[in-house]
Order: sequence, then structure tokens, then C-alpha cells
Amino acid sequence: MIKTKITELLGIKYPLIQGGMAHISDAALAGAVSNAGGLGIITSVNRDPDFLKKEIEKIRKITEKPFGVNIMMQSPDIEKTAQIIVDEGVPVVTTGAGSPARFMDMWNKAGAKVIPVIASVAMARKVEQAGACAIVAEGCESGGHVGEMTTMALVPQVCDNVNIPVIAAGGIADGRGVAASFMLGAEGVQIGTRFLTADECLIHQNYKNLIFKASDISTVVTGKRLGHPVRSIKTPFSRNYSKSEYSSISDEELEQSAVGALYKAVAEGNEKEGCFLAGQVAGMLTHSEPASEIVKSIMDQTEKILEGGCKRWVK
Ligand SMILES: Cc1cc2nc3c(=O)[nH]c(=O)nc-3n(C[C@H](O)[C@H](O)[C@H](O)COP(=O)(O)O)c2cc1C
Repeated sequence: MIKTKITELLGIKYPLIQGGMAHISDAALAGAVSNAGGLGIITSVNRDPDFLKKEIEKIRKITEKPFGVNIMMQSPDIEKTAQIIVDEGVPVVTTGAGSPARFMDMWNKAGAKVIPVIASVAMARKVEQAGACAIVAEGCESGGHVGEMTTMALVPQVCDNVNIPVIAAGGIADGRGVAASFMLGAEGVQIGTRFLTADECLIHQNYKNLIFKASDISTVVTGKRLGHPVRSIKTPFSRNYSKSEYSSISDEELEQSAVGALYKAVAEGNEKEGCFLAGQVAGMLTHSEPASEIVKSIMDQTEKILEGGCKRWVK
């Protein structure tokens, strides 16, 4: 059995979090992960606050275990969403796209554990000072919004600069990645892309097929010109978008060309106009299976590696 500061802090069996995924991680997926002993996270991104409330009601019917909600700090409904965390007694909040400092007191008082997702040492220090109880250090191998640094370089530097537990994210899809994260100093991991292949993840089948077909070099980062780079599967949409970034098209037109693209991927599987967010580990994923199997196989492999792995080198 693996016990870390994260299993203790969150009251979960395994130090494994299913990352919040905009438009995707609903109560069904998050509930299955929590039931399996990890921590499932419901997305609030691009969701109506009432819809989020219903998802929280749903997950409570699926599991009695802890779960979380992911919030983007730039969301237009941020005030309402922040209040739902308090009103509904959500146990864990993960945040992205900025510091959650202004809500920290209110969430901490309500008993919510606040875990910001960060991509630099400076931001890690800032959110620790603001009162975060742990942080997710996310490298640019990950799917979705990305920073500049790789997980391998980011995690140890963050661990050296904060006193709260660090959760590694980006490029982790099996027990090898989890064990490696522990070696870098992490106390847990957050995984997104692998959960896209879960049976309970209700994305369009074309989305899953693109992941199953992916190789190591099938993803690309676009969006740098507008200051919000994202990693997705190479498709006609991403190729066109990349070309536009280096053309004379205005920023407004460029922005407009991606509106609704994630929805078109998730709901319609539209390869021409959809943006299929996924990380570099997509090339490791070959089939669909229940979320419980994903959690169990990752953690079983981690235990085996941690029990015997070092003996290969240290005699
Ligand atoms: C499809 C997709 C959507 C994502 N959306 C969000 C999001 O809305 N908010 C967030 O904080 N992180 C988001 N992420 C990042 C994940 O929560 C997680 O940190 C990341 O996927 C870990 O890296 P991996 O993809 O290599 O497992 C997203 C990732 C994916 C793959």
C-alpha cells in the first residue's frame, strides 16, 4: 500500500487525481475514479453554475468518497461558482489560469482543500503564500493549457521551493510515470489524457479513436501568439490554426476561429473544426477500459516498481 502526504491530506486510498477536463470530466467519470480510490474532479469550466450544482448532486449519488471541482480563475461565472463550492461543501478545489488568492479564505473556512495547478516556481510560491494546502506542478507534456517547462525539470524545482505537498502532472500514464514522479519529490500525481480512454468518459468515439491512433509525435502546441498555448492532437483544425498564427490575420479573427472548437471535438468528433486536447502520452494508449481498471493497473505497477525497481541498479 502506498501512503503519502496526499493520501492523508485528501483521505483517499491512492495518491492519484483525475485532472479536471473542460467539457469532459463530469460526475460519471469523476465518481468512478473516486470509487476506485483516486480523486475524481468535476469540471466547472464552460459550465452553467446550475449545471455544476446538478453534477455535484449526481456525484454524491455515485460515491461517498471525496471528490473535487476544477475552476478556471478567468471564468465569467467565477463568483457564483466560488460560492457553490461553499454552499455544497465541496471537499477539494483545483484551480487554473491564475491565483485563487481572493477566494482562499472563504474556501478554507468552508473546509475545502484548495490545490492550484501551476507551471512555474514563482507561481508555486505565490499560491503557497496565499494558503494552498498542496499544488499540482504541471509540465508541458500535458494535454490542455500548457506552460513552458517539462514535468521532469519543473517538479524537483517546485519541490525544492515550497513546503506544501507537490502533485506531479503532465506525461504520466502508467506506474512508471508515477514512480518517477515520486523520485522527483512528488507526493502524488494528476492524470488527464489517460482518463480520456475510460469507458465512463463520454467523449465522441472519433476523439477516442484519434488517441488510440496517436504516436509519440501526434500532438502539437498552438495558441502561443494569443498567450494561451494548448496541446492537442494534430488534425486539420490544428494545422490550419498553426498556419493562421503565422499569417497576417488579426488577433480577433484568430481568436474567433477557435471558438467552440473543444465542444466540436468532444460532442461531435469533428476533425475539421474540433480541437482534440490531449497530452504527449496519447501515443501510449491503445484501448478503452473502466476507470477503476485504469486506477488499479497504474497503482499496482507503481507498487511493483517501488518495491523492486531500485534493486536493478543498487546491489
Ligand atoms: C482534454 C483535456 C482538458 C483539460 N482541461 C483542463 C481544465 O479545464 N482545467 C485544468 O486545470 N486542467 C485541464 N487539463 C489538464 C488536466 O487536468 C491534467 O493536469 C493534465 O491532463 C495532466 O497531463 P496528462 O494529460 O499528460 O495526463 C485538461 C487536460 C485534457 C487532456
